[in-house]
Amino acid sequence: MTKRPYVVDEMISAKTIAARIEDLSREIATEFSDTDKLVVVGLLRGSFVFIADIVRELDLAVEVDFLEASSYGDTMESSREVRILKDLRGAIEGRDVLVVEDIVDTGHTLTHVIKLLQSRNPARLKTIALLDKPTRREVDIRADWIGFEIPDEFVVGYGIDFAQRNRNLPYIGKVRFTD
Ligand code: IMP
Repeated sequence: MTKRPYVVDEMISAKTIAARIEDLSREIATEFSDTDKLVVVGLLRGSFVFIADIVRELDLAVEVDFLEASSYGDTMESSREVRILKDLRGAIEGRDVLVVEDIVDTGHTLTHVIKLLQSRNPARLKTIALLDKPTRREVDIRADWIGFEIPDEFVVGYGIDFAQRNRNLPYIGKVRFTD
């Protein structure tokens, strides 16, 4: 784990995030207005704040479930090999599912998760990512809804960590090393 000193520079304010979530939630509610079976699946751990805000904006009957896939560990590098560390509690066959991801970076995690969940035959599977770093993509994948496109910066806050730190920042900030 890195011990390099760093500061976090604010990139997207809590207010801007909240306004974007209101818009996204309206679009999601329209998409799923015909269902009484929506399962919102948060990818742990980075999406825990985002999913909490999304579901509270949705005026729909929702169930919440979580899936944990392996990610960066304590480094800044994507692992590329995705493993499922914690599976869903509930079955999703025939259900409408919304997968909530924090960041789509190389795209390996979301691709793997979509393949896995599609194999369980949901009625409909949609994806939302708070952040998208399109310039980092290694596999051709795009979430159905994206909060913000960002450049190739390492970010933290609003649930997202650097070596398990900074998840509790209310905004998204970029890591800047000071040594
Ligand atoms: P991907 O498989 O490369 O798309 O990586 C997705 C996962 O990597 C995200 O869900 C995050 O957990 C992690 N990740 C990607 N970029 C960042 C970052 O800037 N800060 C913290 N975690 C990140």
